[in-house]
Amino acid sequence: MIPALLEKIFRPVLTQYSETPEKFLGMISRCGDPKFGDYQANFAMAMGKSLGKKPREVAEMIRTAVLENPLAAALFESIEIAGPGFLNLKISADWMIRTLEAAAKDERLGVPVSEKPKTIVIDYSSPNVAKPMHVGHIRSTIIGDSMSRVLSFLGHRVIRDNHLGDWGTQFGMIFYGWKHYLDEAKFEENPIMELLRLYRIARQEMDSDEKVADECRLEVEKLHSGDPENRALWAKIMPYCLREIDHAYERLGIQFDEVLGESFYNDRLPGVVQLLREKGLATESEGAVCVFFPGRETPMIVQKKDGAYLYATTDIATFLYRVETFHPDAIYYVVDHRQSEHFVNFFEVTRMLGYEGIDLRHVKFGTILGDDGKPFKTRSGDTVGLDGLLDEAVERARTAIRANEASAIPEEDFEETAQKIGIAALKYADLSQNRESDYVFSYDKMLALNGNTATYMQYAYARVRSIFSRGGFDAQAISENAKIQFTHPSERALAMELMRFDEALEAVAKDNRPNFLTAYLYDLASRYSSFFENCPVLRAESEEVRNSRLVLCDLTARTIQKGLELLGIQTVEKM
Ligand code: ARG
Repeated sequence: MIPALLEKIFRPVLTQYSETPEKFLGMISRCGDPKFGDYQANFAMAMGKSLGKKPREVAEMIRTAVLENPLAAALFESIEIAGPGFLNLKISADWMIRTLEAAAKDERLGVPVSEKPKTIVIDYSSPNVAKPMHVGHIRSTIIGDSMSRVLSFLGHRVIRDNHLGDWGTQFGMIFYGWKHYLDEAKFEENPIMELLRLYRIARQEMDSDEKVADECRLEVEKLHSGDPENRALWAKIMPYCLREIDHAYERLGIQFDEVLGESFYNDRLPGVVQLLREKGLATESEGAVCVFFPGRETPMIVQKKDGAYLYATTDIATFLYRVETFHPDAIYYVVDHRQSEHFVNFFEVTRMLGYEGIDLRHVKFGTILGDDGKPFKTRSGDTVGLDGLLDEAVERARTAIRANEASAIPEEDFEETAQKIGIAALKYADLSQNRESDYVFSYDKMLALNGNTATYMQYAYARVRSIFSRGGFDAQAISENAKIQFTHPSERALAMELMRFDEALEAVAKDNRPNFLTAYLYDLASRYSSFFENCPVLRAESEEVRNSRLVLCDLTARTIQKGLELLGIQTVEKM
């Protein structure tokens, strides 16, 4: 809302005085201290230099020009020039009230739909199957899901694609294990655990025996080249693998539009190599087919000496398929930062192929660590299974609810609420991190009632909602006839924060950083707390003031609810 208007107002003026309005538009930002204004423009100093004028003079000039625009006259209460030439922009209360009253009546809470909707493929989760889902799969799954939700809410066409690793070397090992050590009864009982056992045997034997390693390689090769036995075995195993991951997705509330694994692209791989050769991008080097990059020593191998194709080859095939099928403007890959080099190279190849118009992003993330600061493992050194992790989070939520004497959760909602709180805690703890950093996993922190946690946000939501049930008011009816007035600074401060919801979402979309949304929600909750301390709602001095405050309450609750929903998190009505 506001940033788009600021741009509309300032761009034409800045264009008059500068050839780089873009640069100066970037110098308009939120004001740190509301005493001075809501937004602040800092470009007068830099512009002064290039125009050979005093910054304050430039600021004055811009202010005058801006205020000639009726849009600006309506939006600003004042534009003040401060210090060396800062422009302090204060938004008009009338304008805020009108805008928020409209937002209260709007299902989208006033968040506009993008004027330039894009088609965006999001490649996320993408686990290597035939192994149980584990802690290492959480980040891609949760961040990708949240990005998909935010972008589609903003009006983009999002294609959620789970690029399964269903064709890799793990199958060679599993087939080797299957052929030598299968325990049918165990497979019947728990297929994924038996596959894991077979995988581990192969892994162990491979490490000490070169021959086993060769045998495993041969098994994948046979799978890739169409050997009927191995294809049949693959087809037998896959449904169990899919069931395993679907179970995890169901618990986490994750959905995809496409589940096109690496296997889907098998037949396209020779074509990729051929295309790269025809375009003169790939050459043979020591028997392998490689793409060399100008100024870099290490090439990207697309076909090995023995004829095998690689991860990179599949990614190029996948890219070409997505381009012809979805015509995307952008493709985001939500993948561990350790694959950075792969993505740099692979993106470079797509540019060499002439697709520089597509916005390709490696949305990378760091590692989840244990207390010891090392990658999170069980005490015995195994990877932590996702199911167990979720179970534990939910169990701790149960304990926390039971321990809370003030809990308002009706007995019949107990289990569902515990599930929602446990899963939410885990997701929020992940999403509220700067995704590029590693973070230490802690159940206690993620379920804390204070601080920037899901539990705190869910509680804030339930508390706002409880005002309506206590007062016997119908939130919807009140918001449909919304009449807002400001009688105290905390009302205005809360209102200003509510108006920034779209700004937070745009920031998430721009940098693929859901933590901008968690930070926003946390700010909103604290603005609400001060509002609630300073402004009695049910005991307001008049009906008008009470109803106005109820609208602010309803907007707060709905914004928290929508914000959490866009993080893939459910709210609960009572806590
Ligand atoms: N399956 C891969 C892994 O677990 C991740 C795939 C990511 N997506 C992609 N298009 N490369 O490491």
